[in-house]
Amino acid sequence: MSFRQARWSEPTVFELSRPGAIGVDFPEMDEELQKELEKALNEIPRELKRQELSLPELSELEVVRHFTRLSQMNYSVSTGMYPLGSCTMKYNPVMNEELAYSEKILNAHPLQPIETIQGCLEIYWRLEQILKEVTGMSRFSFQPAAGAHGEFLGCLIIRAYHEDRGIHSKNVMIIPDSAHGTNPASAAMAGYEVKVVKSNRDGCVDIDELEKIVDEKVAGIMLTNPNTLGVFEKNIDRIVDIIHGVDGLLYYDGANLNALLGKVRPGDMGFDIVHLNLHKTFSTPHGGGGPGSGPIGVVEKLVDYLPSPLINYDESKGIFYLDYDRPKAVRKIKMFYGNFSVLVKAYAYLLRMGGEGLRRVAETSVLASNYLLHKIKKLRGVTLPFAPESPRKHEFVVSLSRLYKETGVSAKDVAKRLLDYGFHAPTVYFPSIVEEAFMIEPTESESKRELDNFYESLSKVINESYNEPEKVKSAPHNTAVGRIDEVRASHPRTMTPSWRIYVKRSGKL
Ligand SMILES: Cc1ncc(COP(=O)(O)O)c(C=O)c1O
Repeated sequence: MSFRQARWSEPTVFELSRPGAIGVDFPEMDEELQKELEKALNEIPRELKRQELSLPELSELEVVRHFTRLSQMNYSVSTGMYPLGSCTMKYNPVMNEELAYSEKILNAHPLQPIETIQGCLEIYWRLEQILKEVTGMSRFSFQPAAGAHGEFLGCLIIRAYHEDRGIHSKNVMIIPDSAHGTNPASAAMAGYEVKVVKSNRDGCVDIDELEKIVDEKVAGIMLTNPNTLGVFEKNIDRIVDIIHGVDGLLYYDGANLNALLGKVRPGDMGFDIVHLNLHKTFSTPHGGGGPGSGPIGVVEKLVDYLPSPLINYDESKGIFYLDYDRPKAVRKIKMFYGNFSVLVKAYAYLLRMGGEGLRRVAETSVLASNYLLHKIKKLRGVTLPFAPESPRKHEFVVSLSRLYKETGVSAKDVAKRLLDYGFHAPTVYFPSIVEEAFMIEPTESESKRELDNFYESLSKVINESYNEPEKVKSAPHNTAVGRIDEVRASHPRTMTPSWRIYVKRSGKL
């Protein structure tokens, strides 16, 4: 078997299994213990006992090699550039992982008496102080496990705030047409009717349209700034006045905060609630490398509605404690106090960066984005819809619709072909207001050399699209699996998520 075959066609452990192969030798069991065990087993009714275990049988080295080969088929930000727009796939420093896996943190249990977890509570508390400073909010809850989870909690808080003042008629949430899909989904899950406000030709919220749809029924608006086109909402002051003018609240989707770190604070812009994606902006692993964390920050008038507990410091006793005595708090949305190891990684990142470092993150990410945009927008078949002459923030969205019309090669085809050149695909078909959308976010982590490599590869794919379109349309050719049927792969009825189901369906083995 050549290296390449070995790398790309890895059998499952069940197929590799050799009857009789042993990975671990256990010592002989003590006779007394064996008797006790048998007795206990005999007490379990036969119909409740598993009759067959069918575990794979392999030596230790075979198992190590199998999983190492599988890991080599993976792609991550540690392998190469990951320009997935709207996801901020920046470098996740290894040091943060080491700290999060230190024994004291790993072995702490949330049900321990608080005197024994003072260090952990202090990390929560100190992290909160930094996030307050970065965003201009008054308090944070760390419960949400992701940005979308935070959005849902934010919507519950908006509802609690209005209802607590006896206002039950506010049932509309306004969301721009450029928004991430989780915004309307979260608002709808929290029981709101979603009204969409259109973007204007600058790629910003159309203020005239906003004024038309805003009335007393509006509970709030959900915005990300810069928005998903990478454009800063320059009329944010006006939007704040319009929404506050009807006693609505402004929710800040923090997915794009990377561009503004140390420059502008959502609180100073007039936002009332913020979620932060710690797994994006603050460099903790993302996606398959999760779990995530989407803490919610609020202004003073909303603090009472944050879910319990909040982590407070009692100065007179000199201890950190969990405050559950909060009668107006909305219900808990996650057990305990959030994904602690993620918080430790974000805290370590923030300490290492400091205020000046964060400012440089914003500047470098915006510079990298505009450097690439400047080159890419000149490529054949590529256009820049919405304010084509304006710079962007940390990400940008070009349209490949001209390329598609001229060659039949779509944004998806280009994204798949980039995999053959060793790059993760950019985000495609989002935001939906851009035809054949191709959204690139290089982040501050990439060197100029890597940005140039990416540009060169994209440029080659565009040339191939004009000269050998079939090669691009059938890509990828160089990866573990070729082009998959995406609808089938994500449909629960046709997906084969486990080896046992596969065996059952295919009759294999
Ligand atoms: C603009 C925007 N908002 C919200 C989210 C949801 O965040 P999460 O994936 O952490 O749930 C995303 C995710 O990519 C996003 O890009």
